[in-house]
Amino acid sequence: MTSSDTPLPTDDATAKEALERLAAEIARHNRLYHTDDAPEISDAAYDALVRRNNAIEAAFPALVRPDSPSRLVGAAPAGHLAKVAHAKAMLSLDNAFADEEVIEFVARVRRFLNLPADEPVALTAEPKIDGLSCSLRYEGGRLVQALTRGDGQTGENVTANVATIADIPQALAGPAPDVFEVRGEVYMDKADFAALNARLLADATDADKARQFANPRNAAAGSLRQKDASVTAARPLRFLAHGWGEASALPADTQTGVMAAIAGWGLPVSDQLARVDTTDGALARYRAIESARADLPFDIDGVVYKVDRLDWQQRLGQVAKAPRWAIAHKFPAEQAQTVLEAIDIQVGRTGALTPVARLAPVTVGGVVVTNATLHNEDEIGRLGVRPGDRVVVQRAGDVIPQIVENLTLDEDRPAYVFPDHCPRCGSAAERDEEAVVRRCTGGLICPAQRVERLRHFVGRYAMDIEGLGLTQIEDFFADGLIHTPADIYRLTADRLVQRKKDGRVWAANLIAGIDASRTPPLDRFLFALGIRHVGQITARDLARRYVSVKGLMRMLHHALAVRRTTVPAPAEPERKFVLRRQKALVAAIETPGIGPEVAEALLDFFAERHNRDVVYDLLRQVRPQDVVHQTRASEISGKTVVFTGKLETFSRDEAKAQAEALGAKVAASVSKKTDLVVVGADAGSKRKKAEDLGVRVIDEAGWAEIVAAAS
Ligand code: IVH
Repeated sequence: MTSSDTPLPTDDATAKEALERLAAEIARHNRLYHTDDAPEISDAAYDALVRRNNAIEAAFPALVRPDSPSRLVGAAPAGHLAKVAHAKAMLSLDNAFADEEVIEFVARVRRFLNLPADEPVALTAEPKIDGLSCSLRYEGGRLVQALTRGDGQTGENVTANVATIADIPQALAGPAPDVFEVRGEVYMDKADFAALNARLLADATDADKARQFANPRNAAAGSLRQKDASVTAARPLRFLAHGWGEASALPADTQTGVMAAIAGWGLPVSDQLARVDTTDGALARYRAIESARADLPFDIDGVVYKVDRLDWQQRLGQVAKAPRWAIAHKFPAEQAQTVLEAIDIQVGRTGALTPVARLAPVTVGGVVVTNATLHNEDEIGRLGVRPGDRVVVQRAGDVIPQIVENLTLDEDRPAYVFPDHCPRCGSAAERDEEAVVRRCTGGLICPAQRVERLRHFVGRYAMDIEGLGLTQIEDFFADGLIHTPADIYRLTADRLVQRKKDGRVWAANLIAGIDASRTPPLDRFLFALGIRHVGQITARDLARRYVSVKGLMRMLHHALAVRRTTVPAPAEPERKFVLRRQKALVAAIETPGIGPEVAEALLDFFAERHNRDVVYDLLRQVRPQDVVHQTRASEISGKTVVFTGKLETFSRDEAKAQAEALGAKVAASVSKKTDLVVVGADAGSKRKKAEDLGVRVIDEAGWAEIVAAAS
């Protein structure tokens, strides 16, 4: 991190080099933040880089680069959404970090406007929401366009996405100017963010754990900037207005007045927005908002002050990228220093070894922190941390605290050695090629993996056994009461009662909860098995495709046979053989969305005798429910359909599933009983027969219309 008290360069050559380096570094972080939604450094560290850049520029004005970070706002928009120029540039804000800087801001305003000393400068104060800014253009009172900020001049068209956000009305309530652009922040509530991440985690295969969002801001950005608006629709996004862009007329002559009008049109405006008449009043609001911060449902990172009078705003105008009439008073970063007491290694369900930092307790932004994530072996190497080091921990929103810096890197102690054996069962722990994760190879010999699998099995998105908590699973396992999932169903109230004083009611409830989970939907059952790469979505796809346990088992036997009998041809290179085998497996599993990685993992699991035994044992205790395809009302409900010829836009399976979802029967051959024949390319005799019998014949486009009409 660039510290603000690092001395400034003293000669041109060093200053030039420093500015070049800073420009490249800031550009990289802009890209990580705005385009990739994957920032690597805290806002505070980013701000420090920008301040350092600006300080050097101030000392060496001749060296200011045309692409200086001080002249740019944010980063260029991401590639896939259409770019549209803003009618009025979307500006950024200058930052203040200390009270003195706010006092100086007001003094500057006074000087600029040449105000007499006794003339009050009224300001508005409101939270600075940590989301992404968006410009909503209303014409004739109707929402016609929504753009992200992009680089400030050009944004991304997110009109369709924004239409899915309930906070944003399609039409303004009451009379409004012809053209009015409402500007504000799209954000996600902290609780919704946590739930979204939990959902992504539950759905995730190991490969896409990375799809989890680091914080609510990234979740909001990632959710809004989707090509497919239906993804946005499924994300709990919110909006708060904080200003406006182009306007054919203004409903008031103060900031407060216009914001009140915007609220009157039906857009959310912060209920913490207040007008203050003095700088002291502004600073008092800052402290009030800061102390309310933890209780607000969303993340904020400061307070924004704006000159209330619009004629003054007009006169003040703007400097390169920010208005002279507004400033953001940032909260100090939620960071603290403490001692890293130990590095513990946790072993997960699939054997992944995850390092966890045990910290001397320290308060970070009002919360006592004792653990922080260290992600993986490489992260430890990057930070160079060893037990005993003094470290900087940071807490951003609701994410798990992180270690961001090692303050005692230069102390002469040996580097931490990541274990190459599982700390729980002693089996070798190996890193797959290209993977960053080291895994215990012990499988079900490893007690850690077994407990984690049991915990997964009873979890909310799996068998969802009410009353059976994660700590109980650990206790029952440790005491030898349960070894495998089926053991849970063999527990009896009599055995449980002895475990607790006055445990009769507890035991009865627990048994009732366990019994209630004996008829799970097929997809939950499959997900509960904890097969690597089989997340909720994959489980659902398989369940829909095979409908029953029986259907699934039949497919698995077939696919396992394919795997056994697919052997290398003489002189066939290993890579070619693997690809050929994977193709055969994917074909055998025959489920849309299931590729080679999942196919291999699924069969790896069922190829193990031990796993099959666990599943069969379990199937004596529980009865997964067959999938009932939901049918939708349609003109073809109850009719018989035949598909023939090669379909271009759907697979045959998909078309069949569509027909079934609409309550139709699909037949293989045309007869008098057929109601409809859908013909693709090269349809031969069936088409002719249909025509002879006078059965209705349509093409693929006609079919697509029927499907669309029902959805
Ligand atoms: S006013 C011309 N008010 O912070 C002034 N911005 O760091 C434009 N932001 O681009 C912004 N809360 O995305 C304003 N209450 C608030 C805000 C706010 C969050 C964002 C906005 C802006 C960025 C600048």
